[in-house]
Amino acid sequence: MIAEPTYTLESLSERLHGLSNVDALRTLADLFPGEVVFSTSLGYEDQVITDLILANDIPIKIFTLDTGRMFSETYSVWKKTNDRYATKIEAFFPDRAAEEALMTEKGPYSMYDSIENRKECCGIRKLEPLNRALKGQKVWITGIRAEQSANRQSMPQLEWDDAHSLFKFHPLMDWTFEDVKQYVKDNNVPYNPLHDRGFVSIGCQPCTRAIQPGEDFRAGRWWWEDNSKKECGLHSHEETFKP
Ligand code: ADX
Ligand code: SF4
Repeated sequence: MIAEPTYTLESLSERLHGLSNVDALRTLADLFPGEVVFSTSLGYEDQVITDLILANDIPIKIFTLDTGRMFSETYSVWKKTNDRYATKIEAFFPDRAAEEALMTEKGPYSMYDSIENRKECCGIRKLEPLNRALKGQKVWITGIRAEQSANRQSMPQLEWDDAHSLFKFHPLMDWTFEDVKQYVKDNNVPYNPLHDRGFVSIGCQPCTRAIQPGEDFRAGRWWWEDNSKKECGLHSHEETFKP
């Protein structure tokens, strides 16, 4: 019997080194069959990755965390994407009891009252569903780019995520915003029309606004909070959701 190869961060990085994004995604899908997932927020970057996966028939499951607070434009691009690629992006919802308790106790805009409340909402709507979506998986693909924030500039393209015990791969890490826009245009990829109205990074409706020329990419996310706190916990290395 041939022993199953196991990969360290180093050996997997080496295996992927120098490959194009399509080849890297395909290699991951071959090495970890049925255990590679891509999380899409349906924003610009994620639409590029969805296209790379689906236009090339790479067997990677695509899911979205439907927080229940997304823009109607985001639902439209979700439908367009399903139609265009004849696919079904998988939905993960917040736990019903937790969401009902949050809305009953604190109402729909508790996130503006304090950072604790905002993190509680992100915990219920994003982090707990994410934990379910990643359960049993070996590789998590994301649309993170280095240019998006200071924190992201120090992230490697492939990393080990201790909180979820899997590899995390960011194919567009070195892409510029222009690269992303150009790919979307050249390949006629469906995209969120909010991007044409000054929205760069798009999350939940209550927590996202358009940015002004010259503002940084994430200025429109949780804009009322201090810069150092502006991650929802999906990608911060120290935070995990504890119910
Ligand atoms: S966040 O941490 O601030 O919310 P951001 O919007 O920059 O993240 O997106 C970074 C990556 O996180 C996306 O490319 C995507 O892989 C993942 N992501 C963010 N929001 C969602 C979501 N609602 N559903 C699935 N994946 C998401
Ligand atoms: Fe709640 Fe805002 Fe976090 Fe969305 S981004 S889960 S609405 S606090």
